[in-house]
Amino acid sequence: MKTVAILTSGGDSPGMNSAIFHLYKELTSLKIKVLGIEQGLKGLAAGKFKNLSLPELFSAQFQPGSYLRTSRFPEFKDLKIRKKAYGQLKKQKIDGLIILGGDGSFQGGVKISAEYNIPVLGIPCTIDNDIKGTNYTLGFDSAVNQSLRSIQELILTAASHERVFVLEAMGNKSGAITKACAEALSLEYLVPETKPDYKAITSKVKNNLKAGIFGQVVMITENQPLVKEEILKTLKEAGLDVRFNSIGHIVRGGVVSAYDRLWSKQAAVFLTQCLQKGESGYLCSQQQKMWLSPFSQLVK
Ligand code: F6P
Repeated sequence: MKTVAILTSGGDSPGMNSAIFHLYKELTSLKIKVLGIEQGLKGLAAGKFKNLSLPELFSAQFQPGSYLRTSRFPEFKDLKIRKKAYGQLKKQKIDGLIILGGDGSFQGGVKISAEYNIPVLGIPCTIDNDIKGTNYTLGFDSAVNQSLRSIQELILTAASHERVFVLEAMGNKSGAITKACAEALSLEYLVPETKPDYKAITSKVKNNLKAGIFGQVVMITENQPLVKEEILKTLKEAGLDVRFNSIGHIVRGGVVSAYDRLWSKQAAVFLTQCLQKGESGYLCSQQQKMWLSPFSQLVK
């Protein structure tokens, strides 16, 4: 393998730049030339290749967002567009491709690997933590941390007014961010994965207020208009002072967490080894679980 290209596709997620930096370091240490592709699959079809340099990537690794810029490009489903992309890969003599993105991007990757016949591997990157086949997607931890900072600030004004905030988190159709934030701060929440019980949430919020826990926030996930309407209505009907807020895209621009930095390095090292072995059509994934470890093993 002589030349590998890297692209970021779909929504940016914190840690992408760190992954690009580590991939570049690993691959170039094996004397493999590494090119970036700007604007994801859209840029690939347009031939937007970019020379990368270690000093620039070293600085970029600290930033969230994508140094290579990204795009959502459903047009890649069109064979004519893909053929353009293959022409560009050929022109640059690319013989390996790494995609940093979500499931839509990997569907494009599967097609490239089958039709153009080069190894294509992926690092799952989305704040939503919702890609099949892996328990973790790069950027989720940073997004949760950034959300927690905003929620803590919101709780201060909620408490001052004895108000209830219904707060919407990002996640598309996944309640992962909502749930992680709510559980970390012990807040009430509703997620798309479970049936909502508006009355139960309302009575818990009322009890909390009665007990003197004044900063009440009920978290919900975006793109759930009925849930939003119903929870706001039920809380208001219970006589509570209610406001609605949304965290929004800000979570994609927060500090890249230590966990995401380390995870991106592990993914880069692992994928480089897999690429060398000729693997193709895979995303690197991780399974995490807790288990019981006996005290007795600590006794010397
Ligand atoms: O996939 C990540 C994500 O941030 C989702 O949580 C959200 O629904 C979507 O992207 C927003 O997309 P866009 O950046 O195109 O508005």
